[in-house]
Amino acid sequence: MLIDNHGRTINYLRLAVTDKCNLRCFYCMPEDGLNWLSRTELMSYEEMLRACTLLVNMGIQKIRITGGEPFVRKDIMKLLTAISKLDGLHDLSLTTNGVLTAPHVAELKAIGIKSVNLSLDTLDSGRFFSITRRDEFGAVMATLDGLLKHGIEVKINAVVMEGKNTQDIIPLVELAKELPVSVRFIEEMPFNGDGQIHQTKMSWDYIRILEEIEQVYPDIKKIQDPAYSTAYNYHVPGHVGDVGIIAAYSRTFCGTCNRIRITPQGTLKNCLYDDGVLNIKDLMRSGKNDATIKDSLLNAFNNRVKDGLEAEKLVKNTGMHESMAAIGG
Ligand code: GTP
Ligand code: 5AD
Ligand code: SF4
Repeated sequence: MLIDNHGRTINYLRLAVTDKCNLRCFYCMPEDGLNWLSRTELMSYEEMLRACTLLVNMGIQKIRITGGEPFVRKDIMKLLTAISKLDGLHDLSLTTNGVLTAPHVAELKAIGIKSVNLSLDTLDSGRFFSITRRDEFGAVMATLDGLLKHGIEVKINAVVMEGKNTQDIIPLVELAKELPVSVRFIEEMPFNGDGQIHQTKMSWDYIRILEEIEQVYPDIKKIQDPAYSTAYNYHVPGHVGDVGIIAAYSRTFCGTCNRIRITPQGTLKNCLYDDGVLNIKDLMRSGKNDATIKDSLLNAFNNRVKDGLEAEKLVKNTGMHESMAAIGG
């Protein structure tokens, strides 16, 4: 068991396998994309597998693969298959935008992936284009269909943005009427890669999102949240699926934070809002053995910040313009 200096269990690794993406969601990166990492800056699959093996041996039980978009990285199924075989790993999941995912769904099922989080901010193809700057709504819906047909649990991630998709909140809740999905509304965070903070104050926070839903579904009920949940979960009577709200900007769930992150270039992040505490790829490339790397990791876990607000204060560059694609969400 890994326990941090605040008594919190650490059992969840979010591994971002690339910063590249085939969409350009405006809340995540500029229209021109980012200065993509070069191949040598990226962790190799061997390095990722070594890091995962080490961390699973130390107590990590759940790994989520993120990006950028995981399926943009060549041969990603090879890495997923290798990670899925790690002894002691109970849960391997991924977060994807769904553009390239559909052809891989059967194989995801075959290697034991039980749950996929799909980014989908709107059910209107025009607004999908305006948010993602790409015309891929049909491909994402085909992925949703394929995942459900294969019995893979689906959570839909919708970032709520003033002036962009607040009219989609109710249709997205409605999607869970017939489909066994959990639709999660997420507060927008200022990780958009262009140095601009879209909002100076959070206009659509978790309270306002819930109020919006309650106006149409006054009988919506709070349900039990799973352990370590980032989402507050709800159920509308008569619906097959559920609704969740993630207070990602308000950061209400840091007290039970069980997660660490590794970025595509191997930076270990103790918190989404910190700027990295060590680089595991550099340790490996300088020839450090597993025992030494493990000591460095344990030292990092003993020095975690209390919450995302503290992490943000400690970041020297407070512009908060890093792209979510370079962090992995
Ligand atoms: P589950 O494993 O299914 O609970 O999903 P998850 O919420 O951990 O992962 P997902 O990749 O679907 O992320 C959903 C949203 O929650 C994204 O906008 C993430 O950036 C945000 N999120 C995930 N972890 C954290 C966190 O530690 N802090 C904050 N503030 N936001 C987070
Ligand atoms: N604010 C909140 N969530 C974001 N995501 C990407 N950028 C942001 C942002 N600026 C979400 C995506 C994806 C998840 C990993 O992070 O919708 O589903
Ligand atoms: Fe790509 Fe996800 Fe960023 Fe959108 S939010 S540009 S899908 S990495």
